Amino acid sequence: MPITTCVFDAYGTLFDVAAAAREAASEPGTGKLAEVWPRLAADWRRKQLEYSWLRAITGEHVSFWQVTQDGLDWALEAQGIAGDADLRERLLALYWELSAYPEVPGVLAALKSSGLNVAILSNGSPDMLQGAVDSAGIGEFLDDILSVESVGIFKPAAPVYDIVTKRFNCPRDAVLFVSSNGWDASGAAGFGFFTAWVNRAGEPMDRLGHPPHEMITDLTSIPDIASAI
Ligand code: LAC
Repeated sequence: MPITTCVFDAYGTLFDVAAAAREAASEPGTGKLAEVWPRLAADWRRKQLEYSWLRAITGEHVSFWQVTQDGLDWALEAQGIAGDADLRERLLALYWELSAYPEVPGVLAALKSSGLNVAILSNGSPDMLQGAVDSAGIGEFLDDILSVESVGIFKPAAPVYDIVTKRFNCPRDAVLFVSSNGWDASGAAGFGFFTAWVNRAGEPMDRLGHPPHEMITDLTSIPDIASAI
């Protein structure tokens, strides 16, 4: 089945999640953050994702904005800088304007001009996603920004991937789903999407079954992958 619809995960795939801590650390007066930002960024992301999975398992859904704040609070405390309210506020503000990876605008533009439906499917809350899309200036290449908030559960629950098939009224195997999160690519492949895993960091493959159909190191080959299926 030819691909009609190309859908991207947001955080870590289009937007660099480490950018908030990296940028805050480069600003004057951020003290200990200058030293600890890589660890803080990694803990923040790990806890944000763990909380999303745990809340999906327990059925106690909150917004991704809430788990983003909860993950940051854990990470700040782990580094002994939980008391710095200005720093917390600055890091959270930067999360609304994360940098997109450099190849993102060109890849989205190429997909759009080839006539495909192009969208984001993310755990992110609609307002967070809109903020990041506006800040990266990529809204003109997207047909839609789809958030898990419409089904009230986080990835990799199947109803999340089903948002795409319903929105674009397409069969599962007409969707190319692109994610830098191995567990998300696996969830999407299990659902029946054609998947590309963006393995920027050269990580081992997750042992979850449903391996990705393609493994790539950045997004530049996505238009070619989409047209070759
Ligand atoms: C997202 C997270 C998983 O954007 O990165 O859905």
